[in-house]
Order: sequence, then structure tokens, then C-alpha cells
Amino acid sequence: MTDAERPDPQNPLTDLEHWDDDLRRRYPEPASAPRRSRFTDPGKKKEDFRNYAAEARESVREFYRLNHRYQTVDLVRRKRDEFLSLRRGKRSLWEALEYLNTLIDDSDPDTDLSQIDHLLQTAEAIRADGHPRWMVLTGLLHDLGKVLCLYGEPQWAVVGDTFPVGCRFSEKIVYSEFFRDNPDTKIPEYQTRLGIYEEGCGFSNVLMSWGHDEYIYHITRDYLPLEAQYILRFHSFYAAHRENEYEYLMDDQDREYFPWVKVFNPYDLYSKSSEPPNLEELRPFYDDLISEFFPDQIAF
Ligand SMILES: [Fe+2]
Ligand SMILES: [Fe+2]
Repeated sequence: MTDAERPDPQNPLTDLEHWDDDLRRRYPEPASAPRRSRFTDPGKKKEDFRNYAAEARESVREFYRLNHRYQTVDLVRRKRDEFLSLRRGKRSLWEALEYLNTLIDDSDPDTDLSQIDHLLQTAEAIRADGHPRWMVLTGLLHDLGKVLCLYGEPQWAVVGDTFPVGCRFSEKIVYSEFFRDNPDTKIPEYQTRLGIYEEGCGFSNVLMSWGHDEYIYHITRDYLPLEAQYILRFHSFYAAHRENEYEYLMDDQDREYFPWVKVFNPYDLYSKSSEPPNLEELRPFYDDLISEFFPDQIAF
């Protein structure tokens, strides 16, 4: 086995999409979902998908073991200092999307979709349902923060469910048993119900575990409406948007805007189809849409 073939203990997912696949296992699409016939590939064999998912599950478990162990208050503060000052140069959003597309997933027998394909499928599903233009654009951009992987960040600091640090970890967080290895569980101040926060302080005052959500939110927040900012920042916060945990940290603004994260989530999870979108046809629409909200280049 060469070094290149050896599994990287810091990056147990052989394919970043295994995390997304596991989300669909945890939260299957309701049979009554109206978009099902339009956006689910009818040619896909359910059995193939299940076998593949079983193999992928072990790597997802290992991934969460690392994520839950290393996501501490201290880590989050350091990553925020490192990345949120946006010192990695200016790019147009298309340049950033094309850069993200160099992150190749090569082991998924289920689909051969690129990162841009997933983003376009999400955006197109939102557009097909007649949602506002800012939300279509949010669909296109929501995973752009995964460029963190291309900066050499480990998987556990880019993807995975996000959750507040600095207060008790909810048992509803996936694989919550792995938090026993997290050094913050030894700090009593961080392990009360409120931890370092106050009742109703608002999610904007909460340190979320570090990942692609917080990064894309910071890059784009000056240009998008608050609804979009909530979607970008919290789209992986499954403990809140699927399990309704951490309501005691919400303020009035969260109660008004957080429901948009719930509206968005099915488009992220269930718009995947093996039919790649036609980028050439769609490009003019998305060029217009991007220039409606963004300048030519923004800081990363
Ligand atoms: Fe995402
Ligand atoms: Fe996504």
C-alpha cells in the first residue's frame, strides 16, 4: 500500500458525500413529499443504495468520533480567528464554485455528481417550487464553505452536523456518546444547561461547532437578506432544525427567521438525482442572479 492509498486517520470519509448520504438515512424523505417524482431518480435501485450505505456508515461513525472529540470552545475560537478575517484573497463566486469543484468525490457508485451539480440541483429544486430569488441563490451557495477542505482542513472541521459548544451537548446530536472524549466535558462551566450563555441570548451569540456553514455565512452575510444568512449559517444544525433542541438559547429574531432553515433542508437532502444539471443552459440565469446580489469579487 502506498502512502496515497493508506486511509488518513484524520479523514475517515473516503468520500465527503457519505456524510450527506447518512443524513438521508437518518432523515428519509417522507413518502408524501410532493417533489419526489420530479427529483428522485427512478432508475436507482434501492438495494444497491442500502449496501453502499452500510459500508459508508462505519466511516461516518469514525468521522463523528473525531468531530465530537475535537470540536471544543477553544478549537472554535481558533478557527474563527484563522478563517473569519477573510484573508484568503478575493474571488468571484463562479471562481469559488469552480475551485470547489476541484474537490472530487470519486468513490460514490450512487451518482457521479460534482459539488456544483449538488448546488445547482438544490437551487433548481428551490426555483421550481417558486421560492424567492434570494433563496434560489442561497441554494447555489450553501456548500461553498467546503472550500475549507481545499485549504487542507480535516473533514471533521468542514462537514458534519453542527451544534453549540460551551454548553451541555444535547443527547439528540448524532453519535452524542462520542462527546465523552471531548475535553470540554471535563470543564464544569461548559456542561450546564446554559454553559457560557444566557437564557434566550440568541443563536447569533452562540459559538457553533466549526465548519463550512459558519464560513460561507461570514463570506456572504453583507450581501444577503437575514433569511438567507440563517439558512447558510445553520443548515447543518440538525439538533435544532430537525430535533427542536436548544430552543432555550433562541431569541425573538431566531423564532422569526430560523423556520427558513427548516424550509430549506428538504431541498438540500432530497434534490439529489443522478441526472447532472445542464450548466451551460443554466449559467446565464445564475450569472444574473449572482450579479443581482453580489459585486464582481468578494473576500474569502
Ligand atoms: Fe452543507
Ligand atoms: Fe448541501
